[in-house]
Amino acid sequence: MDYLEIEGRAKLKGKINVSGAKNSALPLIALSIISKEPFKLSNLPNVKDIRTLLHLLEILGAKYRFEKNVAVIDTSEISSTTALYDIVRTMRASILVLGPLLARFGHCEVSLPGGCAIGQRPIDLHLKAMESMGASIEIKNGYVITRAQNGLKGAHIIFDKVTVTGTENVLMAAALAKGKTTIVNAAREPEVVQLCQVLKNAGIEIDGIGGDELVVRGTEGELPRLKEVEVIPDRIEAGTYLCAGAITGSEITVQKVEPSHMDAILTKFRQMGLRIDIHKDSITIHPTEKIEPVEITTSEYPGFPTDMQAQFMALALKAEGVSIIEERLFENRFMHVGELLRFGANIHLKGNIATVYGPADLMGADVMATDLRASSALVLAGLSAKGITKVHRIYHLDRGYEALEEKLSSLGAKIRRLKE
Ligand code: EPZ
Repeated sequence: MDYLEIEGRAKLKGKINVSGAKNSALPLIALSIISKEPFKLSNLPNVKDIRTLLHLLEILGAKYRFEKNVAVIDTSEISSTTALYDIVRTMRASILVLGPLLARFGHCEVSLPGGCAIGQRPIDLHLKAMESMGASIEIKNGYVITRAQNGLKGAHIIFDKVTVTGTENVLMAAALAKGKTTIVNAAREPEVVQLCQVLKNAGIEIDGIGGDELVVRGTEGELPRLKEVEVIPDRIEAGTYLCAGAITGSEITVQKVEPSHMDAILTKFRQMGLRIDIHKDSITIHPTEKIEPVEITTSEYPGFPTDMQAQFMALALKAEGVSIIEERLFENRFMHVGELLRFGANIHLKGNIATVYGPADLMGADVMATDLRASSALVLAGLSAKGITKVHRIYHLDRGYEALEEKLSSLGAKIRRLKE
């Protein structure tokens, strides 16, 4: 297995390009299942999760080309509707094939995702929504077996909790359903908005895009012609690199970003005393004498994203004072705390609230990645710590960060990928 070796305390300088958003690319790849013709996606990040979902579609019978961050996916010859455990267990987002497969073929069998490091993450809301659109649901041998022989029909769906992939699954199913579907308490993430825009550009009637109530008029089984799409920039990757600048007291610029997707993140940098310059599609962060402590509560978009919680906890280690971080979305998203303590951090956990005492004099250590965003927090701490840090199990990182060590090295970080 690979690991990253980091020699901390190097100052960073310069500009890097941010990749396309993994969490926008995944539903768009699943959407190709209902496309009448080959679907072309550009600015696709070349990360493990993307390759995994493309492989899943290939197993179902689809064909695709993926090179230089562009993919063309042809699903005309899909012959299977069974998403196998082997793939689904490696990536929970495989559940995104449920809605489109059910809508196009009238049935599908998707392995239950199982839990993951950051929490149980059930799919009950996805399934209840499909049932209300006329599907029958059966759980058997670890698989969700769904049937809608007479096709899906529009329904009035109220999500008990905001669910990003739940909203995306329903949007893709509703696009082919008969009649109107209303989604109340819908997720509003930019990734959900892009999915809505691709559907609308293909002629599907959608109202309320960007809001928490969406209305979709389905085509009653007629497959839409999806137009080519450029995946939006990854706001979490951009935030992660800005944290790298902040935690090393450096001035860096992230390019090919969409600043309007990052209000909550940029507000927290400013509250911590960091100066942020915003340009049309780039953001520059400037070092500050004193990093202020911060209070963070994660919430659904447009609130502060849970996917940035671990990275800001690492940054809070350098703040001069006590920071409070409350994780509201997942029941177990503090796996990085134990590893940060190995750097010499002083963090107390009580339920879903972490109290971070700064500034900590971080010393390099051997640490272990546990999930995608926690891994990036360990890299950030390593960039700031005295001495050598080794981050093990970085296959977690490779799921969602394209060329991380190359991008950081280009900014002057002393980081390299080695084999265990
Ligand atoms: C998406 O996951 C993202 N993944 C996650 O990013 C992100 O952390 C999460 O949204 C929250 O923003 C993708 O978009 C591929 P949810 P998702 O359904 O859709 C509960 C990353 O790092 N829930 O919005 O799986 C659930 O347990 C990943 O890129 C139910 O109870 O998250 C959680 O507590 C990590 N029942 C909350 O809702 C359901 O049926 C939010 O989950 C569905 C969800």
